[in-house]
Amino acid sequence: MARRALRKVDPTLDLTRRLYTLEQLPKPLDAEQLFGRRAPLEVEMGSGKGLFISRAAAERPEHDFLGVEIAKKYAAHCAAGIARAGLTSAAMVSGDGLRLFHEFLPTAGVAAVHVYFPDPWWKKRHRKRRVMNEAFLADVERVLAPGGSLHFWTDVEEYFQTTLELMAGVARGLEGPLPVAELAPEHDLDYRTHFERRKRKDELPIFRSEFRRRS
Ligand SMILES: C[S@@+](CC[C@H](N)C(=O)[O-])C[C@H]1O[C@@H](n2cnc3c(N)ncnc32)[C@H](O)[C@@H]1O
Repeated sequence: MARRALRKVDPTLDLTRRLYTLEQLPKPLDAEQLFGRRAPLEVEMGSGKGLFISRAAAERPEHDFLGVEIAKKYAAHCAAGIARAGLTSAAMVSGDGLRLFHEFLPTAGVAAVHVYFPDPWWKKRHRKRRVMNEAFLADVERVLAPGGSLHFWTDVEEYFQTTLELMAGVARGLEGPLPVAELAPEHDLDYRTHFERRKRKDELPIFRSEFRRRS
């Protein structure tokens, strides 16, 4: 993905407890230890510049939020945003989210999974790199608690349809896609992520879906 240079993270900002590498995390991950309390945990795969994680944590202080971002600079940028906002209920993992889900997140330990505008990998031969793949969806199904939700949004219709078809086959424990009327934006500023803002500005369609983990 083409990216503009990010602002340098202020070196005086304390990112302790806001930024972790996979190597620093316990297996299985213990969210209570990470956040110092027992609260529903929401996990975002591929946080990009971190708009969702900071906003959602500010809006839902009764939940904890863990973002994972494979690009180190972006993970640090997200963590800096969280730290600057003084949010203690959110943290970032710098590393491969596929590994976080497969090796670290405990079974039925997550209240919501968010995947917004994952890299489309347009070329057919690169599609195996997409994160919404069979193994990841099986992990999402495993880590979600009964009643927990998966939010998957993209502007790539083909990726959207392929994923929905894949889910019908491999993630039968996830009910959906649920009716989307209530997912439509209400005003110009209610975008969840940086990419959503950009796509809406360009007046591109956005495909939104939500699934719920069956009990
Ligand atoms: C197209 S961007 C979207 C960012 C953000 N979700 C948004 O909507 O603005 C996709 C992000 O996913 C990250 N990513 C790709 N593969 C990943 C993986 N395996 N684990 C964690 N992050 C990943 C990329 O580095 C990139 O920041």
